[in-house]
Amino acid sequence: MREIHKIIGRIFFLGMAGYSFLFVPVYAEESVWNKTDDSILNPLAITVYKNPTCGCCSDWVKHLKQYQFQVKTIDLANMSSIKRELGVPQHLQSCHTAVVNGYVIEGHVPAMDIRQLVEQKSPHLGLAVPHMPIGSPGMEMGEDKEPFKVIAFDKNGDTETVKEYNEESF
Ligand code: CU
Ligand code: CU
Repeated sequence: MREIHKIIGRIFFLGMAGYSFLFVPVYAEESVWNKTDDSILNPLAITVYKNPTCGCCSDWVKHLKQYQFQVKTIDLANMSSIKRELGVPQHLQSCHTAVVNGYVIEGHVPAMDIRQLVEQKSPHLGLAVPHMPIGSPGMEMGEDKEPFKVIAFDKNGDTETVKEYNEESF
């Protein structure tokens, strides 16, 4: 009888493991960063520099495309020189770097924050979400979410937090 329980337990465990694997794409589809409304957005051209092996960079590009960004990707084996060239402060660095309407975008910045920067003709050089916070667009991992900030930066290195995302807001 004990053996049977053990076997049933094992089958159950394997079943759950299988399900959690299957649930990964489901979570991705249900990401809060997926565009759900039908509001019409103007196409916006953006160039994304990324490492060819970076998976989360490609997921962020998918997020942008949902918000009518026309994305051109440029694969670079070494990202540090382009970040330096474009003026991304070292402490704000993440994986990918993008250029849209002359603005520099660093890391997993939500598409609508980029659109706002462009539409408001912000005086800043660009926006950054430093490092790679879990739960930011392109960094979805199920229910796991890390609060994160969108930080504007200037040519002289000045920074300003322009948006904060926490458990209640995403
Ligand atoms: Cu990333
Ligand atoms: Cu990236």
